[in-house]
Amino acid sequence: MIVIESTAAMQEWAHSHADKPIAAVYTMGALHSGHAQLMRYARTWIQEHVGSDCYVVASIFVNPTQFTNSSDLEKYPRTLEADLAACRAAGVDAVFVPSVDQMYPEGIANTQLLDAGPLKNILEGKSRPGHFDGVVTVVNKLFSATKPQYAFFGEKDYQQLTVLKHFVAQQNLPITIVGVPTVRDDDGLALSSRNRRLTEYGRIIAAYIPVALEIVSQAVSNGVDKELALQSAIDYLAQFSEFSIDYFVITSDDMLQAPTRGSARALVAVEIDGVRLIDNLPIQIRTT
Ligand code: PAF
Repeated sequence: MIVIESTAAMQEWAHSHADKPIAAVYTMGALHSGHAQLMRYARTWIQEHVGSDCYVVASIFVNPTQFTNSSDLEKYPRTLEADLAACRAAGVDAVFVPSVDQMYPEGIANTQLLDAGPLKNILEGKSRPGHFDGVVTVVNKLFSATKPQYAFFGEKDYQQLTVLKHFVAQQNLPITIVGVPTVRDDDGLALSSRNRRLTEYGRIIAAYIPVALEIVSQAVSNGVDKELALQSAIDYLAQFSEFSIDYFVITSDDMLQAPTRGSARALVAVEIDGVRLIDNLPIQIRTT
């Protein structure tokens, strides 16, 4: 596994490895087993869907422009040595670890952020203004450095995945965005670097978030009205005073409409012990 720090060297590596597709997995580090599974999934997915081997390129870069709060940026865990070991163990071929200067050579203040499009101000975007503009800006720079044909993003951050699919489509970029199913702990809680900030009790009750999503899924697949289904799930979580619910919604798969039937997505964001957790589930709405 090669570790590359400059954009020019990364581009050169990508050009000289054009004999197989490049599959990219972008991260901000603090890697957990969900990230490792994402990296392994990328290679397997290419083998199964493209029928060839590939180069898996990961990146580790804590992107300042997607943080709305400077203390969150400062507090973000940086565990480079452990992250590189995790990439190596997951079979990654190259890891791009740029500095802020490499990614924003003109300085952040002089960088015009890209527009993340129609989903940027709802749900996660509402509580984190400017966040998705920062995400599409850095991902576009990562595309340009790593030159992938395929890029893999976790479904756990479903809105981010959807924003990036719209972005790639709008820009006509020759890159396939692949959503990777959420990796969960034994009790169902979606893996996230934030879980480690929960108290012991907070961690126990966090497992009720996927249960609440299942309540919605079961109800709408049995023909229950979606507002009623959402209300039952909200009432279920409200039994625990530690939950503060930001949103619990059902959207179409592309997040652009309120669906009435068929395939859709239930998304939830809560805060426990001051830690914001998000999760989502694919659902099937059946009308009676
Ligand atoms: O999901 C993340 O870790 C980040 O938002 C990403 C995609 C690496 C961009 O900084």
